[in-house]
Amino acid sequence: METMAHNRTLGRSGIDVSPLGFGCWAIGGEWQSTDGQPLGWGKVDDDESVHAIRRALDLGVTFFDTADAYGTGHSERVLGRALGKHRGDVVVATKWGNVFDERTRIREGQDDSPEHVRRALTASLQRLNTDHIDLYQLHISDADPERAVQLRDVCEELVREGLIRAYAWSTDDPDRAAVFAEGPHCAAVQHRLNILQDAPELLALCAESDLASINRSPLAMGLLAGKHTAGRALDDGDIRNAPPAWLPGFIANAGADPVWLRRVDALRSLLTSDGRTLVQGALAWIWARSPRTIPIPGFRTVAQAEENAGAIAKGPLTAGQMADIDRILGR
Ligand SMILES: NC(=O)c1ccc[n+]([C@@H]2O[C@H](COP(=O)([O-])OP(=O)(O)OC[C@H]3O[C@@H](n4cnc5c(N)ncnc54)[C@H](OP(=O)(O)O)[C@@H]3O)[C@@H](O)[C@H]2O)c1
Repeated sequence: METMAHNRTLGRSGIDVSPLGFGCWAIGGEWQSTDGQPLGWGKVDDDESVHAIRRALDLGVTFFDTADAYGTGHSERVLGRALGKHRGDVVVATKWGNVFDERTRIREGQDDSPEHVRRALTASLQRLNTDHIDLYQLHISDADPERAVQLRDVCEELVREGLIRAYAWSTDDPDRAAVFAEGPHCAAVQHRLNILQDAPELLALCAESDLASINRSPLAMGLLAGKHTAGRALDDGDIRNAPPAWLPGFIANAGADPVWLRRVDALRSLLTSDGRTLVQGALAWIWARSPRTIPIPGFRTVAQAEENAGAIAKGPLTAGQMADIDRILGR
């Protein structure tokens, strides 16, 4: 088994991070859109979230990804509380672009105006109890590219003022990501990448433009943990129980999609060879996919934190295993 002794870098910023980040969406708890669509992952226990983050720190994790909107500010507050005096030891990424009410826990819409960037940043700094954000990310995946040029310029100003160190766009569109890539302090693209949902064009852009590829949904929103079944509804407050169009793999009120479960089953024995759990095998695929990838699996418990962080020591899959996976999936 190859091991991974080294950290990874946030692209041209040179900021050093552990090869795995922790995704803080689920720990925001329940929130919803104005029409009642759940946007969280159901209920969470804040004390357990804090313990999970502290356990991650013990295990060498130095990168945390959140967003102002997750739990309408709650995820940032929990992360700030958990990091406490360790804030200076870690790299914090958050996002702006959504407008929400912390009291009602409702996301009211989006704001792509240049004025909103500073407003949102000020609020995030307060909730995270910090004086700067290491990586500030645009959370409107389909924002207008011309507007994005203005937002990129605002981000460059914020870098000059020392309020952020670098910035990125969270988008699955390579053309949009390329607009941000032209800014000198753009350091990454955040995009979906997992063994079932590859993203070759975005990985090519990251290589050409010297950007990190920060990988959301690295476990296909939990499907690659192998514990979900078909036909059984998830909690009402869980977005996977009422999946929007961009969230394949789950069926409304019916748990995991059997087609996706069959793919996971087909990969199980290969991913769990070499003493890895299924989750660790899924993360190992991401590291083998490119030296620029940094998966940010979500978590809700200390046990998940330990299993996910435990993947680091086991390193990437081998080239032979990668080829076998492509064959199994018919790619
Ligand atoms: N637009 C955006 O910018 C955007 C969009 C999506 C995600 N993200 C970021 O990416 C992060 C990760 O993506 P994601 O939340 O979509 O999904 P993910 O990482 O693919 O899946 C996370 C979920 O898998 C389950 N899980 C995690 N570790 C596990 C383990 N060891 N054993 C069993 N189950 C485990 C947990 O859910 P259960 O236990 O409930 O199954 C967890 O919430 C997010 O937290 C967020 O920071 C950003």
